[in-house]
Amino acid sequence: MTTDRTDLVVDGVRTEYGTSAVVGTATPRLSWVVSRAPAGWQHQATELRRLDDDGAVAEEATVDGDASVLVAWPFAPLASRERADVQLRVLGADGEPSPWTAPLTVEAGLLDPSDWRAVPVTADFPDEVPERPIRFRRTFDVGEGLAEARLYVSALGTYDAHCNGEPVGEELLAPGWTSYRHRIRYATRDLTDRLVPGANALGLTVAEGWWRGRLGFMDGQRENYGDQIGPIAQLELVYEDGSRDIVVTDGSWRAGLGPHLYASLYDGEHYDARLEDPAWATAAFDDGAWTPVVELESVAEQLEAPVGPPVRRTEVLAPVAIARSPAGAVLVDFGQVIAGVTRLRVDGPAGTEVRLRHAEVLEHGELGTRPLRNAEATDVFILGGGGVETYEPAFTSHGFRYVEVSGWPGELEPADIEACFCTSDLPTTGTFRCSNDDLNTLHDNIRRGWRGNAVDLPTDCPQRDERLGWTGDAQVFTPTATFLTDCAGFLASWLRDLAAEQDEFGGVPMFVPAIPKLIPTGPGWIAGWSDAAVVVPWRLFERYGDRDLLERQYPSMGAVVDFVAHELDEHGVASKGYQLGDWLDPSAPPDNAAAGRTDSILVAQAYFSWCARLVAGAADVLVRPTDAAHYREVGARAAEAFRREFVTPSGRLASDSPTAFALALQFDLLADDDQRERAGRRLAQIVQADRHRIGTGFLGTPLVLDALVDAGHLDDAYLLLLQDECPSWLYQVRMGATTVWERWDSMLPDGTINPGEMTSFNHYAFGAVGDFLHRRVAGRAVGAPGGRHHHIEPRPGGGLTDAEATLETPYGPVAVAWHRQGPQLRLNVDLPPKATATVVLPDGSTTDLGAGHHELQGACRPADEDPSAAGPTPEELMAAQITADEP
Ligand code: BGC
Repeated sequence: MTTDRTDLVVDGVRTEYGTSAVVGTATPRLSWVVSRAPAGWQHQATELRRLDDDGAVAEEATVDGDASVLVAWPFAPLASRERADVQLRVLGADGEPSPWTAPLTVEAGLLDPSDWRAVPVTADFPDEVPERPIRFRRTFDVGEGLAEARLYVSALGTYDAHCNGEPVGEELLAPGWTSYRHRIRYATRDLTDRLVPGANALGLTVAEGWWRGRLGFMDGQRENYGDQIGPIAQLELVYEDGSRDIVVTDGSWRAGLGPHLYASLYDGEHYDARLEDPAWATAAFDDGAWTPVVELESVAEQLEAPVGPPVRRTEVLAPVAIARSPAGAVLVDFGQVIAGVTRLRVDGPAGTEVRLRHAEVLEHGELGTRPLRNAEATDVFILGGGGVETYEPAFTSHGFRYVEVSGWPGELEPADIEACFCTSDLPTTGTFRCSNDDLNTLHDNIRRGWRGNAVDLPTDCPQRDERLGWTGDAQVFTPTATFLTDCAGFLASWLRDLAAEQDEFGGVPMFVPAIPKLIPTGPGWIAGWSDAAVVVPWRLFERYGDRDLLERQYPSMGAVVDFVAHELDEHGVASKGYQLGDWLDPSAPPDNAAAGRTDSILVAQAYFSWCARLVAGAADVLVRPTDAAHYREVGARAAEAFRREFVTPSGRLASDSPTAFALALQFDLLADDDQRERAGRRLAQIVQADRHRIGTGFLGTPLVLDALVDAGHLDDAYLLLLQDECPSWLYQVRMGATTVWERWDSMLPDGTINPGEMTSFNHYAFGAVGDFLHRRVAGRAVGAPGGRHHHIEPRPGGGLTDAEATLETPYGPVAVAWHRQGPQLRLNVDLPPKATATVVLPDGSTTDLGAGHHELQGACRPADEDPSAAGPTPEELMAAQITADEP
């Protein structure tokens, strides 16, 4: 039966994380969104069918109940290379179905190592610098009647693939960085329309990338995965008569050198256009002068299809200014700090050398390169001559806002230069706006910083000789990241590496992928960092409802807690081993970021207890009651030890710092309401005594505002949030930041760069406050895993008159918007079909909502406060603070 009803619509059908039609599993999970449904509609079942190539129904299935997120594959498992067209319709209680969705094509990649005939190949050019990329090519014949052609491609190094002279795909820095010892991702490309009967050619340029290139701080380490680079390519041809042919990287390929003279992720790319032959990847090219390649050992066991999106050019920016520096340098300003490369259009004599130096900031009008440490971030383009040439580096990435251009032939015009923002292509899912423009700028900066640090993995910073998957940074930022973007696959991929790199005792490397040559001590436990193993999967479960991910990560989660439990001292305290503590608390000296106001053992014990209880929560979800009881007990004992060691009976803490109190309160480590009340009051007193300048580092910052609000000190929370004197979130905004800085004062008030050797202008950790903006200011919080149920509880204050947030959830879009009129709050809530919400207004009134548009009203402040008060305005708050400052 077909139906053409329009009041019940299903769309957004996707497989797994929705990032690619090609999946690395035989049983891809399916999700769909009921985007329109009649009021009160109840989802009773879903009918699914699999169509064959002729559109006939090959298989049918029914999923009873209302599941629609990451539903198990209901058909026979897919074989490698198999394709399936899937469509579905939903049925309500009345049995009336929705129309069938348009068919979605799902394709299995190469699922078994034995599918791989290709091996990596390499070539030696002993007279060249090792940083010089190598080109590899091969010609092959295609017969008549080609039905389809799939290229499975990867590399040891980073690659750029061409077929018959044209680039294949838009991916940058492919295959990205994973724990290559365990996982190397391949891409799948459809070349059916790119091949012609007769002679064809494949060409791949391979640079060192993460495979062999220098990685890490100090002098870094080279050859972290191997000393040879080269491509892995398998082209599979299927003809209309069913016959097959295959072209793979093997000893038949040829290697040569092209125009790339040098390529390093940190240092930049040097390209001599005089050496370019546009025909190099065509069949017509004569590779007689090229050298034969050498076959390397197969990496088929490691090859897998990606679960997240690739790095792409996600935005192209025009300059906002081109000017001369005091010293006479030509400086291009792109107006915002990004990650990526510069693209040129240039016309000049052959051999002209254009040099591009990149940096995030200016210092006294000149390019501020000191924060780059050992990263040169310099690209060199040598013109080929003979007309307009375009150049965009392919094998490097820089964190920058400014580019110093030297050697330009003639006058550099704005149209000659662009900045390409190159990041993992994560769809935007969340937005936030409020009536305070500085907070809006802060939010824009948080988003931009996340984009610039989502370069295939969650990095700490995109500019200096680091760019590592620092676990603590990702841990604190995940709640914000998962609101801003759909990063389910991106982080799931990173977590696979994290689990793979854990040692047999459960220790976690400080950053993932690990670089053992750089950190020879191996994995261990650093509170708040290693705990990414626990916190990130839990947050992903909350946001996306991905129970299978929790299941997959569960051994990794438990192992970290077990690791700590085995290392406790005789008082039951996690006091052994090195800790980073509340990293970069503003009171820590520039050269010792771990030396903040909070005892790092106190921080460690708090995290240990909290994470043990999170693992217990995961065990509940996965129905492992024995584990749940065990980890709950471990967490409770750790909390007891915390109190014995760090809490006075009346609720003072051994460290009299905002982070200590925020941890104790938010991780529920205190004994009773009296202690909590006292701790909340003390926290507010410290924050007031700090004159509402921020006093927390990486681990205290995501908690301190919530701790104040929950303890009843809303106005102090807003004073801290809206502070614009150094150190504070809005100090950076006032200083013209376009991203979030690593240090609260990366740029000092006098315009000089912080003397600390570690000073980035694009670090997302302090941007973890984004979660507070979404959850407490706008008011949308996780209510149930996956976003089926929402908890909506805005906490207006700080003189804000409006705030709103929207979020694309697995069930559809949710919107929350409030407006304050005097003491009254008007709240609008929009929920998609199947979603529900509990709304708590500031006056304490509670309402349960179902799908649709809702308008609510109530008082802005709790009933026990002056009902006429709408909360102080920022000016009143500041005035109150100045008075408080007076001796
Ligand atoms: C990184 C951080 C990281 C820290 C921990 C820094 O160099 O940039 O963000 O978490 O080291 O030691």
